[in-house]
Amino acid sequence: MRLKIAAGNWKMNKTYEEGLQLVREIKDATSHKEGRHVIIGTPFIHLKDAVKILIDSPWVDVAAQNCHQAEKGAYTGEISTSMLQSIGVNYVILGHSERRQYFHETNETLIQKVDAVLGAGMTPIFCCGESLDIRNEGWHARYVNGQLEKSLFHLHESEFKKLIIAYEPIWAIGTGVTASPEQAQEMHASIRGFISDRYGKEIASNLTILYGGSVKPANAAQLFAQPDVDGGLVGGASLTCENFLPIINQL
Ligand code: PGA
Repeated sequence: MRLKIAAGNWKMNKTYEEGLQLVREIKDATSHKEGRHVIIGTPFIHLKDAVKILIDSPWVDVAAQNCHQAEKGAYTGEISTSMLQSIGVNYVILGHSERRQYFHETNETLIQKVDAVLGAGMTPIFCCGESLDIRNEGWHARYVNGQLEKSLFHLHESEFKKLIIAYEPIWAIGTGVTASPEQAQEMHASIRGFISDRYGKEIASNLTILYGGSVKPANAAQLFAQPDVDGGLVGGASLTCENFLPIINQL
């Protein structure tokens, strides 16, 4: 049985105090449920204290939203996997479309980031997804498969099975337009099938594939009810417990 995950991505939001307050609220409002995990992708400033707050709540973890691929060195403004690992971070979101768009992350850079995160014993939450133009032209499945193939298919089976994939169509991120449950299911099934062809049925069927893009309390139930949708990577609606909790509770 694959794990169901509700992951929040706060992006560049929340002061130090606001963030820790929300971490406490999520911790207090949730409890252990077999087969379900909650992950909160906070800015770097919150990670260390959030790990401490969550020490007795193993059903909630934090994620960094990015890291650098190098172990250390002259990379002003960057953060390494060993730094994140040294404060107890277990997950790193990689390849979010905003990182690809605004910070020029490429499929090639992501090979190195994925290797660095896995090498540090952490789990990448690897994002993929197509633009509206690509969807309108009808080659979204091929495009997303290409992203996966280029950045992940060098991995050995033993590494690949540690990944979490997040399918996030760019046209649905922060726009209020959600992929329909059918559109999400179609892409998740396509991704799982593509992975199955490369890594085999067992690894593919155990892989958690999250949907991201305007997930809200009102649409989470229908999205998560799809057989290949194993939860969500949630941006805007993860910024308050009021919105994030009902999403978590759909899993
Ligand atoms: P959204 O963001 O839920 O605000 O659309 C999702 C994401 O970018 O991960």
